[in-house]
Amino acid sequence: MRLNNKIGIVTAAASGMGRAGAVRFAAEGASVAVVDLDNEATDAVVRQITAAGGKAIGLSGDLTRDDFARDIVRQTVSQFGGLDFVWNHVGTPGPASIEGLDWKDFDFAMNLNVRSVLVSTEAALPHLRARGGGSLLFTASTSGLQGSPYSPIYNAAKFGVVGLVKGLAKRYGHENIRVNAVCPGTTDTPMLRVFVARPDSQMPAGETPETLIGKRGGLNPMRRVAQPEEIANAALFLLSDEASYVNGVALPVDGGATA
Ligand SMILES: NC(=O)c1ccc[n+]([C@@H]2O[C@H](COP(=O)([O-])OP(=O)(O)OC[C@H]3O[C@@H](n4cnc5c(N)ncnc54)[C@H](O)[C@@H]3O)[C@@H](O)[C@H]2O)c1
Repeated sequence: MRLNNKIGIVTAAASGMGRAGAVRFAAEGASVAVVDLDNEATDAVVRQITAAGGKAIGLSGDLTRDDFARDIVRQTVSQFGGLDFVWNHVGTPGPASIEGLDWKDFDFAMNLNVRSVLVSTEAALPHLRARGGGSLLFTASTSGLQGSPYSPIYNAAKFGVVGLVKGLAKRYGHENIRVNAVCPGTTDTPMLRVFVARPDSQMPAGETPETLIGKRGGLNPMRRVAQPEEIANAALFLLSDEASYVNGVALPVDGGATA
């Protein structure tokens, strides 16, 4: 098993890629803290993991609250006895508009995408150090690698995540703490529908989220969008000891879209 005896946290773990990751990591031997805003969906993931013989706890709350972003680390360590990895997967598309932007929406996007993941990272670092090292993984996006006319604010946030990853990787590598990002392309989750249907996202008249997602898949070199498990597989590699010399990368998992 690729994460045998490891203890880890997955945020935004009640849905989509985070859920796929939490379930997979537990199947690979990890004890997993399933963190999400959605209380019922969190419980369902914990039940799924434990029914399969895995170890999991559910922690429900809003990661834009600094106290909760820190507390997920405290509770994980107190329940499982340590910490080896964190997948900081939480994020939000943020507003699509620029002119007439409501700055509260901008602040929220930066808070969730950049600030909240740094708050939980700050809390996690002493515990990783205490275990002789560990692995921090962040979810950026292909929007953290290239610009989009529909998402400059999401670009700013996810380029910020990639910048954070590269700086942290250089700062903490000597302590055997590896820091990487996974950069999903268009992936079939509930958030994708929110993303393409945002007001001001310039969705062409006559299109629905489903038709637009179909077209985005059709434009991909692989002629389809990703499934959440395909991103979770890449996350598993980056978190595991198989990636023991992989540090500071922003790995596109995008079917070649940014090639
Ligand atoms: N789906 C895509 O096409 C795509 C592509 C690239 C990057 N991403 C990134 O993936 C991550 C989201 O993943 P997904 O597509 O698996 O989404 P999803 O919609 O399947 O799940 C998002 C989860 O985040 C939780 N959440 C939202 N706000 C929260 C908060 N404040 N505190 C705690 N939990 C919160 C929700 O309850 C939900 O369960 C984000 O970082 C997003 O930017 C998504």
